[in-house]
Amino acid sequence: PRRIVIDTDPGQDDAVAILLALASPELRVEAITTVAGNVPLALTTRNACALLELAGRTDIPVFAGAARPLRRPPISAEHVHGATGMDGADLPVPRLREQGLDAATHLVDLLRSEAAGEITIVCLGPMTNIATALAHAPDIAPRIARIVAMGGAQREGGNITPTAEFNFYVDPDAAKAVLAAGVPVTLIPLDVTHRVLATAARLEPISKIGTPAADMVVRMLGAEDRFERIKYGWDGGALHDPCTIGWLLRPDLFTGRECNVEVEVEAPLCLGQSVVDLWKVTDRPPNALWLHDVDSDGFYSLLTERLALLA
Ligand code: BDR
Ligand code: CA
Repeated sequence: PRRIVIDTDPGQDDAVAILLALASPELRVEAITTVAGNVPLALTTRNACALLELAGRTDIPVFAGAARPLRRPPISAEHVHGATGMDGADLPVPRLREQGLDAATHLVDLLRSEAAGEITIVCLGPMTNIATALAHAPDIAPRIARIVAMGGAQREGGNITPTAEFNFYVDPDAAKAVLAAGVPVTLIPLDVTHRVLATAARLEPISKIGTPAADMVVRMLGAEDRFERIKYGWDGGALHDPCTIGWLLRPDLFTGRECNVEVEVEAPLCLGQSVVDLWKVTDRPPNALWLHDVDSDGFYSLLTERLALLA
């Protein structure tokens, strides 16, 4: 199996991404590292631990990472995910605790101790931990097989400002540093994830699975008061982060192109905007595989099939 570390700020859609990874024999989750994002670090860490307990995977270590972005004050998204970060999940306070080491130190140690190209990093939140690890230990860059990140937006516009997607906006400096590190990167922007809506028709087969994990997914995604339903008038919430795992499992469900992606880190109106050179109008070399479309029914079939494999 492909060995992955999931760097995350659970987060309702983060939780679904983690479950999808745990349910997939093609992947081996080596660790979960947490970051402040949707909610503060103490909560994202607690949610990660609670989720591993629910899935019966307390063998996977959790490392808590950055409590704030590199250079900017923290921004959170309780308006989307609720005060707990995983509203609807109703998980008990976990007994599982994070390890003593911090996330960036663990990433450096792990990447240095494994053969180059062994470890893929899946980024589901602001990229503060990865950027910190790369800044402290630039030698790890050529050892990372790939970074697969949910972040950015072009065609869709932003979801936290008119121009920026949340993960890039919260820590634009981190996103910029990661894109400049020379590591193979796959980016899954809002352009893709806004097509993967959790409609009632798509949740129905998941609700029939009848396991605690599947029931939790339906409770989190099916809520009538979901942000996107109320604010955008959509008939379901966008399932952002699971697309990263979906791409690792079934890249054929996605389309995209290698291009140059830069992140704005200064201009107030455009802070955190991903500037994507889709048509190669600059001579800046490609630094990411930018995905722009997905077979969303195919994705939901995959998700449903995999969730059914979890006890
Ligand atoms: C991203 O922001 C978070 O709220 C989600 O978990 C996802 O990672 C979407 O913009
Ligand atoms: Ca997230």
